Amino acid sequence: MKRFTSVHDVVAEPGLHALLSEARAYAQDPWRTPELGARKTVGLLFMNPSLRTRMSTHKAATMLGADVIVLNAGSDSWTLETRDGVIMDGTTTEHMKEAAAVMGAYCDVLGLRTFASLTDRDADYAEDVLEKFIAYAGRPVVSLESATRHPLQSFADLITIEQHKTVARPKVVLTWAPHPKALPQAVANSFVEWMRHVDVDLVVAHPKGYELDASFIGDATVTHDQDEALRGAHFVYAKNWSSYAEYGAILSRDMSWTVSAEKMALTDNAKFMHCLPVRRNMIVTDDVLDSPMSIVIPQAANRVVSAQTVLARLLAGAHT
Ligand code: CP
Repeated sequence: MKRFTSVHDVVAEPGLHALLSEARAYAQDPWRTPELGARKTVGLLFMNPSLRTRMSTHKAATMLGADVIVLNAGSDSWTLETRDGVIMDGTTTEHMKEAAAVMGAYCDVLGLRTFASLTDRDADYAEDVLEKFIAYAGRPVVSLESATRHPLQSFADLITIEQHKTVARPKVVLTWAPHPKALPQAVANSFVEWMRHVDVDLVVAHPKGYELDASFIGDATVTHDQDEALRGAHFVYAKNWSSYAEYGAILSRDMSWTVSAEKMALTDNAKFMHCLPVRRNMIVTDDVLDSPMSIVIPQAANRVVSAQTVLARLLAGAHT
């Protein structure tokens, strides 16, 4: 595997079932391949903040025996320019062309976190920054969340659902929930994309105006009635996203979409999921998040399993 930027980088080769099988093995014994990363370096570049992605990917690389270098662009490295052909007379100090190429010279596998601008939909949905980084770096690259997807999160979500499901084909509900700031569609897009490749009954619930890009939503069931969606659910995945149609706009702060204990009572003893960080009593009430219904901590813990499985593949494919 030469890149991990979406489920599409996995489905043909090695295949989702093979990757899940490797994830189960790493979940059981994280130290099973301590030499895979020996004498190799993983470089992680963050253009946006992170807790889970930063720590889990670092830990995963370490457990594979690799050295890790983490850079926060603009604070402990230079401010990066990503546009082509610009006169760099502003605040950016180094172009992505040189920065990525230099990181590629120092590292065997690279990771990049770059959020959506939420102002230029075409550039965001073309994955302009991530694709440039991959092209300039010349190394296998893992997305640490990009403008339109968060594949390490989605893979961890899938591992978590596999571990906690009580029926062969669970009903999985992705529900929009309110948030005070405009957030990208990346986690929602990516979750839907991954869930469409596995055997679940997927329902996406959101207020009108929050339709996801058709290429992500595909033939998934969509409803504007959250209560109807929640009935009989086995997993409730809450997430805010801003509008795709009115790109980046907040169209609703309707607190009746907050996931509460009353809402969870409509489900079939569902488990509550969220990628974190989560705004308490906006996205989900304390009585859900602090209850056994919530599996957000095991879900976050699976970020290590997800990262280790993917890095193992990328490290094995480096220099071949
Ligand atoms: N879920 C997630 O990616 O968390 P961080 O933004 O803290 O990395």
